[in-house]
Order: sequence, then C-alpha cells, then structure tokens
Amino acid sequence: MEISAAHARELEKQTERKAALKVECSAAFEGVNRILFEAGCGHGHWLTSYAEENLEQSCVGIDLISWRIRKGLDKRDKRQLQNLHFFKADLGEFLEVLPERIRFDMTVLLFPDPWPKAKHHRRRMVQAGFLDEVARRTDLGGRFCFRSDDLPYYEWTVEHLQAHPEWEIDTAAEWPHEMETYFQELMDGYHSVVAHRV
Ligand SMILES: C[S@@+](CC[C@H](N)C(=O)[O-])C[C@H]1O[C@@H](n2cnc3c(N)ncnc32)[C@H](O)[C@@H]1O
Repeated sequence: MEISAAHARELEKQTERKAALKVECSAAFEGVNRILFEAGCGHGHWLTSYAEENLEQSCVGIDLISWRIRKGLDKRDKRQLQNLHFFKADLGEFLEVLPERIRFDMTVLLFPDPWPKAKHHRRRMVQAGFLDEVARRTDLGGRFCFRSDDLPYYEWTVEHLQAHPEWEIDTAAEWPHEMETYFQELMDGYHSVVAHRV
C-alpha cells in the first residue's frame, strides 16, 4: 500500500526520534538494571521527592512536553540527584527503545490525561497492551500504582487490571510515597489503585 509524502516524513521523523532516544537511554542507563518508572511525570514533583528519599533506586520519568521535562531536570540538578533521570519521550516509543535488560520495580501513573470522550479512549495511557508490556518487565511482587481525579478513568484502570492475568489489585497496599503533584494540587480529590504483579 502506498503512503502519502506527509506520512512518510512523519515515519522518518519517528525513526530518527527513536534512534536518538535509544542513544540517550543507553548512555543514561549504563550499569542500571532496575528502575522505578513514572509515565507522564509532568514537572517531576513526585519523582524528585521519591528519588531523594530512595537514593539507592534509579528513578526514571518521561513526559511528552519538553518544558515539563526541563522543570524536572532543574529539580534534579538543584538537588544533585544521580539516581534521577528524565526523558522527553512518548510512552510507546520509550518502551520500544528501552534496553531489554531493564526491569521495573514499580510503575507509577499520576493524574494521566483522562480523554473523557469514548472516541478518544484509545489515547489513554492505560491499555491492555501497556499493562502487558509493564508486566513483562516487572518481576513477581512488583507494583503498578495509579492515581486520578477522574472517576471514569479510575474505573477503566481497575477494570483493565481486574481483566489482566498478571496484575492483582491489592486493596490493603499503602500508597508508596506521598507528594502532591502539580495536577493533584489543582484537583478536589482523587482515587488510587495499587496492583501487584502475579
Ligand atoms: C495531566 S498531566 C499530569 C502530570 C503529572 N503526573 C502531575 O500529576 O502533575 C499528564 C501528563 O502526561 C503526559 N503525557 C500524555 N501522554 C503521554 C505519552 N503518550 N507519553 C508520555 N507522556 C504523556 C502529558 O504531557 C502531561 O504532562
């Protein structure tokens, strides 16, 4: 099937972006085999605070928006945190280029975009394929932590976790670390769910 010139250019840009990200990841993750992963980390408030309290753990945050990542990098540099990494990257592309050996101790999603219209649900970060990929990279007992102010998105996530054979919701689990994110501060309330890899 023939593709348009615009589509071909977009594919070319994507290939270049992934190649550059792969090089960046390889350099940053030399000697690193396990990470705590935050997808859609925004300004990096939560991850910076977590990394400061867990200096032995490599903490990695990604976000699509450059200036949000720059804010995270500023926080990291100010505190001289060697265990904290931020990348400007799309979730799917990051998971594609991340070195195969890297395992996830914990994956965190805080106030991800809810995409409320049904026709946009496929844009939500939580999807069966995403949970498959995170499960593949997570050892038994590893955690998946999700928090949102949006009740339908929270219910969507609970349903996807319940339907997934490798995740089990743990209603007794404590939230791993409390630090108000930029978006959490704007919201009146939120719903949290923690699941374990089984
Ligand atoms: C509502 S904000 C929440 C940010 C932060 N977690 C907080 O609580 O303040 C959602 C973030 O997810 C990022 N995001 C959305 N889709 C993404 C994707 N596919 N890959 C990486 N980041 C994404 C957005 O750029 C945005 O910064």
